[in-house]
Amino acid sequence: MTSSLASPTAAAGPVPDVSVVPPVWGRITNLVVDRGEGSWLITTDGERYLDYSSGIGVTNTGHAHPRVVAAIQAQAAKILHAQQNIAYHEPGLRLYERLRHVLPGDGWGAFLSNSGAEAVEASIKLARIATGRPVIIGFRYGYHGRTGQTMALTTAKDVYRGHFEPLPGSIYHTAYPYCYRWPGGAHAPDASCVCDWEAQLDLTFHQYVYPEHVAAVIVEPVLGEGGYLVPPPAFLPRLREITRQHGILLIADEVQTGFGRTGELFAVRHWDVEPDILVMAKGIASGLPLSGIVAQRSLIDRLPPGSHGGTYGGNVVACAAANATLDVIEDEGLVANARERGAQFLAGLRALAPKYRSIGDIRGLGLMLALEFIKPGEGDGRVPNPDLTKRVQAEALARRLIVLTAGTYVNVIRIIPPLVTTADEVELALRTLDESLTAAGP
Ligand SMILES: Cc1ncc(COP(=O)(O)O)c(C=O)c1O
Repeated sequence: MTSSLASPTAAAGPVPDVSVVPPVWGRITNLVVDRGEGSWLITTDGERYLDYSSGIGVTNTGHAHPRVVAAIQAQAAKILHAQQNIAYHEPGLRLYERLRHVLPGDGWGAFLSNSGAEAVEASIKLARIATGRPVIIGFRYGYHGRTGQTMALTTAKDVYRGHFEPLPGSIYHTAYPYCYRWPGGAHAPDASCVCDWEAQLDLTFHQYVYPEHVAAVIVEPVLGEGGYLVPPPAFLPRLREITRQHGILLIADEVQTGFGRTGELFAVRHWDVEPDILVMAKGIASGLPLSGIVAQRSLIDRLPPGSHGGTYGGNVVACAAANATLDVIEDEGLVANARERGAQFLAGLRALAPKYRSIGDIRGLGLMLALEFIKPGEGDGRVPNPDLTKRVQAEALARRLIVLTAGTYVNVIRIIPPLVTTADEVELALRTLDESLTAAGP
C-alpha cells in the first residue's frame, strides 16, 4: 500500500475518530469544538460551554475576539512567514517596541520565540551567559515547561519529569511559601505569614550551592500549575533583595500570570518588584503561538548573534495578533476587569465555603482562582482529596462549565476565566460550581 497525504479524509469527508490523537495529550474533556465566542466554546453539536480554562490561561481577550481575528486575517493575506533572521516585518517591529514599555522604567528590550518553555530556556541561557555562572535555582511546586531544562526546573508533579531522568544538572529547588500547606500549620498569606522560605533558601546556599555560583533564581510570582499559590506580600520584595545581594538575576516566569491575568499587566507589579528577566507567553497573542522575554537591552545584547533563536520565533501573524491583543487589553480595560471580576469571584467562592467541609482553602489573585480540596476529619485536616476534585470538575463539565485542576496531588480546582468575562457569567459559574459541589458529594 502506498502512503498518501491525499487520503479520502484529508480536508473534506468524514471527521476521523478522536483515537488518532495520542494519549500523551492527557484529556480534560472529549468535546469536539467548532468555534469560540468570548467566554464560550461551541461544540460541533452546537452545545455551549462556559470556558473558564481559557485554553490553559491563553484566551485573555476571549475566544476569537473580532479585532484579533481581523488583524490575523489581514496579516495572513499578506505573508505568513517572514523569518526573523531573514527579514524585518512591521508587526514584529511594533511589538518589539511595545514590549519595551510593559515594565516601568527605561532600557528594556525583548526577544521573541514560540512557546512558554522556549522563552524560559531563553531566560536561562541569557542568565548563564550574562553572569558567567552555571546554577539556576527554582521553587518546589513550580512549573516551567516540558523541554529538557524547563523539565528539570519543574517540580509541580512527578509526571512532568519522573520518566525522563537523567535531567540537566546545576538546577536546584528551594521552598515556595505555600501558606496553606506549611509544615507548621495552615495560615493566611498575609503580613503575619510564618513560612520560613528565606531560611530554606539560606540552607540551599549552604547545603547545595555557593550563591556566587548561582546565575538566576526563577520564580512564578503567583505559582500556577503547582496549585495556584498566592505568596505573602513580603516574599517577592525580599527575594529581590536577596538575589541582588548575591549578584543573582531574578527571572519572573509570568507565562501564566502575564497580560492582565492577576489584575496587573504583570503580577510583579503587585509588589513593585523589578525582575531582571520577565518571561511571557500564553496571553500574549490570544492563542497564536508566541512567547518572549523582556530584560534590559544591555543584558539581552550579551547573547551573540546565532547563540539563540529559532525558525518560527516572532512569527509575523502571531506578532499581528499580539499587537491587536495589547490594543484590546488596553482599550477594553481588561486589567481592571480582571481585578473586579476576580474580587467578585473570590467573594462568591468564600461565601460557598461554609457549606462544604471538604474545601480546605480558597485563594486567588485577579482571575487566577483556586479551591483546594481535603478529606475533612482525616490526618492533620489537610489530607488532599484528588477524587473529590475530579468529581467536582466532572460535575461542572456536565453542567457545561470547563474548569481545570492543579496541584501536586491534583486536589485543586483552578479557575481561569477570560479577562472579558462579565459579572453575569461569573454569577453563572458560581451557581454552577455550587451545584457541582453538592452533586460531587462529600
Ligand atoms: C508558569 C509557566 N511557565 C512555563 C510554561 C510553559 O509554557 P508552554 O506550555 O507554552 O511551553 C507554563 C505553561 O503552563 C507555565 O504556566
